[in-house]
Amino acid sequence: MRNLRESENVFLKGNWYPVDESSSENLEVIGEIPQELNGLFLRNGPNPKEPIDHKNYHPFFGDGMIHGLKIENGKALWYKNRYVESSFGFGPNTHVMKHADKIYALVEGGSSPVILDSNLNFTDEIPFSKNKEKRFTAHPKFDATKNELHAISYDFSEYLSEVNQVHYRVVDDKGEISTDTPIELNSKPMIHDCAITENYVLIFDLPVTFNTGRRTDNKDGSDYPVIWDDTYQSKLGLLNKHSSEIKWIEVPKCFLFHVVNSYENKSGKIILDFCRYEKLFDFDNPLPFGNKPFLTRWEIDIAKGSCTEKILDDRPMEFARIHPELDGKEHRFSYILNDGSLNNLFKYDFLKDNNEVHNLGENRKGAEPVFIPKTNSSAEDDGYVVGFVYDQDTDRSEFIIIDAENFSKNPLARVILPSRVPFGFHGSWINLVE
Ligand SMILES: [Fe+2]
Repeated sequence: MRNLRESENVFLKGNWYPVDESSSENLEVIGEIPQELNGLFLRNGPNPKEPIDHKNYHPFFGDGMIHGLKIENGKALWYKNRYVESSFGFGPNTHVMKHADKIYALVEGGSSPVILDSNLNFTDEIPFSKNKEKRFTAHPKFDATKNELHAISYDFSEYLSEVNQVHYRVVDDKGEISTDTPIELNSKPMIHDCAITENYVLIFDLPVTFNTGRRTDNKDGSDYPVIWDDTYQSKLGLLNKHSSEIKWIEVPKCFLFHVVNSYENKSGKIILDFCRYEKLFDFDNPLPFGNKPFLTRWEIDIAKGSCTEKILDDRPMEFARIHPELDGKEHRFSYILNDGSLNNLFKYDFLKDNNEVHNLGENRKGAEPVFIPKTNSSAEDDGYVVGFVYDQDTDRSEFIIIDAENFSKNPLARVILPSRVPFGFHGSWINLVE
């Protein structure tokens, strides 16, 4: 293990510092792992390889590493972490998910997804084999009714060539691209996430736009080629899935990395819940400083082309997840990490407009909470909330399993990992017994 954990760069300090690859078996468990949980928890994140450019390193460009934990019959069988190996260039570092019997490591900006197996072996298999174009996104939305992924993707190399274009792409139930619609824009926005409803795909054209060389007095950790444009008019594109026509409406000036979800309500309006930044990537405040994200709801009147906004909570929150089959459908609950001290998880009830808190304890830092529905679940929140927790006192990480219906109670189980899992991005639970 590396011991050198000091850096001028905030993204290389403490638990941001990379770890070496490792594997271990038969892990210690405190509590009881539910017998019905048989599968794999995977999480992707940046883990820069040496030599690291400490001055200019930014985690969005850090080499991807997958951390995996296999659980079977109440036991934690193994933990492994492996660098994402890509035959197609950059190793995707942002998300990992399963679709159409394939597990994909994902990133935005034009790099091809990479396919891995359930033992964390990376393959040379070509994703979307019938389609020449490999660009994708870290955050496709899963339409559980049609077993399809919907994505808005862009390509940094096209942006560099002055091509102001993004693509709407659909991956069908066989893992092939079934729709690929180019969309011309007036600028080059960074688009990290999208949203779907029954009839629409939401395109976020917001004031963080592609810009190289804008920071000649580059600050540590600020070298990422986008910048806040205060003169930019935020726009939301409502792409009709059936006609491919897009209606653009003006929306409040802000930025988002992540949506919670969106859907069409009984009045035909689009409800969008997301984590809203007042401003981000401005010159003086490179990520993660500056404004914090707040849970926000937009109500969009499609006919009038109007948007009303409500901030739902005054505590900063990020990395929201919902039931995995509810993208584009009405949701009641979301599970979210507090932004800042990272020591609380929230279960937000949008119906009652209140929430429960799961406190992880002092000096313990959480990560994105992932919801796993029970096999024969009887309610939207009938399942488990899981994720990694970093303990600063022991300098090790755990994997915790919380009963989602008793969210504030102690975890049902804590799997003690042999080392720490650096702070990272997104992950998924993959059932290995259907
Ligand atoms: Fe993300």
